[in-house]
Amino acid sequence: MNTAPGRATAVAHPNIALSKYWGKRDFGHNLPAVPSLSVTLAGMATTTTVVFDPALATDAFTLGGQPAKEGDLRRVTSLLDRVRAAASLTTRANVLSSNDFPTAAGLASSASAFAALALAATSAAGLAWDGAQCSDLARKSSVSAARSVFGGFVELRDGHPGDEDLAAASVAPADHFPLRVLVAVTREGPKSTLSTEGMLHTQRTSPFYPPWVETAPALFARVRAAVLAGDLPTLGVAAEESALRMHAAAIAACPGLIYWAGATVEVIEEVKRLRAAGLPAWFTIDAGPHVKVLTTPEREDDVALALAAVPGVKRTIRTRPGGPAILVPEATP
Ligand code: PMV
Repeated sequence: MNTAPGRATAVAHPNIALSKYWGKRDFGHNLPAVPSLSVTLAGMATTTTVVFDPALATDAFTLGGQPAKEGDLRRVTSLLDRVRAAASLTTRANVLSSNDFPTAAGLASSASAFAALALAATSAAGLAWDGAQCSDLARKSSVSAARSVFGGFVELRDGHPGDEDLAAASVAPADHFPLRVLVAVTREGPKSTLSTEGMLHTQRTSPFYPPWVETAPALFARVRAAVLAGDLPTLGVAAEESALRMHAAAIAACPGLIYWAGATVEVIEEVKRLRAAGLPAWFTIDAGPHVKVLTTPEREDDVALALAAVPGVKRTIRTRPGGPAILVPEATP
């Protein structure tokens, strides 16, 4: 629903990859080198308003009430340029965005950011694009954002020669099986190496990058089959392997890229202790220090309590499988 032509507001959620993407194909178009599968998370959201305004000489981008950094504005403008080209528009836009969770801290803020921006910008430009078209547009800015356009469990295949358009697709709806994801926040503030930089550095310098790319598709297949079967223990084990292999490749880069904090390792140890004690708990970690713990609705409280007691854990965010990016009515100022 839009309040006026030329403007639109969208909300999107971050996603957590159960089978990780790390690395790009070298034939351009921001194509992933490995397939990935994620779950979109309710409980954290980015809200983005796009207003095409003929009075503007350049695009403007405000994030959380602050004018965005130049690099962030450039990424927003390149998505807007694609939208303008598709809609035969030259008008510049004002983009207002806010996250209700820490930005650029390994909580997948670029995923929800570019999914919300793709949906709001195409709608504001009068393009009635479907999910696949918005997903492809978002992917060109941030690969993981392609997945946040859809809700529930979502896959994105790896890029092949000749691919220019590549969209994510739904694997199963959010309520496919009962799952909870607890985010143990281990450090406040932005991380030092952004994902794109980190994966390119891994690709260029890590001797473990080729085996990562070679073995990721089989792990992806295991994760996908476990999701379809609603088999959390099998999914949990495969998700841990995917996260550790991705981090192993990054850690083996020169110089090594270590995204973890001390508390990251403490949480991993606690998850293993919980499992040994019979609780359903499996971890995964993106390009940041936080640990996301998979568990069941029945044991969510017990696992959350245990994570909160780990030294160095600042707080825990409770999330669950959530819905797709959607257009919303604009909040009145
Ligand atoms: O799409 P990007 O540039 O935000 O990279 C995301 C990479 C990981 O979050 C570490 C893994 C993934 O598949 O989401």
